[in-house]
Amino acid sequence: MEIAGRTIRTVLAPMEGVSHPTFRALMGARGGLDLVCTEFVRISPAPLSPKHMRRAVEFADGPDGQPLPLSVQVMGNDAAKMAEAAALVADAGASVVDVNMGCPMPRVVRKGVGAAMLKDPALLRDVLGQMREKTPGLLSAKIRAGFDDAANVVRIARVVEEAGADFIAVHPRRRCDFYEGVADWRIVRTLADELSIPVIGNGDVWYAADALRMERETGCAAVMIGRPAMRNPWIFQQIEDLRAGREPFAPSGDDLLAWLHEVSAIYARVFHKKRGPIGKLKELVRWFGRAVDDGGAFRSVALRVHTVEALHRAADEHLTGLPAERIDLQADGHLGLERSGSALAAVLARTA
Ligand SMILES: Cc1cc2nc3c(=O)[nH]c(=O)nc-3n(C[C@H](O)[C@H](O)[C@H](O)COP(=O)(O)O)c2cc1C
Repeated sequence: MEIAGRTIRTVLAPMEGVSHPTFRALMGARGGLDLVCTEFVRISPAPLSPKHMRRAVEFADGPDGQPLPLSVQVMGNDAAKMAEAAALVADAGASVVDVNMGCPMPRVVRKGVGAAMLKDPALLRDVLGQMREKTPGLLSAKIRAGFDDAANVVRIARVVEEAGADFIAVHPRRRCDFYEGVADWRIVRTLADELSIPVIGNGDVWYAADALRMERETGCAAVMIGRPAMRNPWIFQQIEDLRAGREPFAPSGDDLLAWLHEVSAIYARVFHKKRGPIGKLKELVRWFGRAVDDGGAFRSVALRVHTVEALHRAADEHLTGLPAERIDLQADGHLGLERSGSALAAVLARTA
């Protein structure tokens, strides 16, 4: 799959409150990333603010200083408004306009948007169809496997395809699963087999080697990564290294410390208002702390602090000098702390 002449194989997932422009810039600069997604922009029935829509189109640069393709996600169920939003975003230069059809949050589905749209294929067809008419460039949708069950996933994906989407991303959990259980990669494989548009696979790609495994097992065109990028900021580089046959970087405790200091300095400048950067930093620590093989000691101390200084002290104390073997961030997942495995892998293992 190509966007603006670039082959897209890795995608940073949209994450509300996480994949803001600063995080996107940090991730883009590290390398190995091909397509960057924004968090969703809510399109309500109220009049649209063209300025607000244009502001969403903020590119992240790759390591070469060139902007990476950007997918701007919109969320709403008013077809005319969504089409107007798509036109504004495309006009402002977004490489892709993406529709959120997967957000499971009660405050979202109560409004009939996000994953709630999976229950209404006719609405979905109307929204995407009207967006298609107003979107000169690429249009995509990000879906879950279903709302309460996955029985209709192929039908939903077909509607997305027939409405004119250029590609589709699937997080193969149902809405009722939220983030529980494992992402069922068999669903990615089914969609990749059944559709003629490219399918992006997403969910539980915890280690770099998992990305290549997902491609192999499912035939997806690209792999989208969300929470694992907070857990392992090197994951996209490691995937690139694996593809190139290079030895992937194996971060140590000191590398994690350096990452925390780098992010901390930047977040301090960007998020200096209100409660400062501590909340956003703790969100990252919550994830990369899971990779430290110390029985959760670092994470439990770090998540109780209230200041950046205390967070740095906790990190210094717990991470300094920790060898790479004790950090579960190697490309092959050598410690396997997150290894519940894809459902497909589990099935294949049982039937082997
Ligand atoms: C904090 C958070 C915020 C998210 N926000 C969005 C969003 O704005 N739009 C969206 O389509 N998905 C959103 N997601 C879902 C992710 O894009 C992704 O589908 C999910 O986390 C599974 O992928 P992963 O296992 O790589 O994290 C969010 C997930 C998390 C954890």
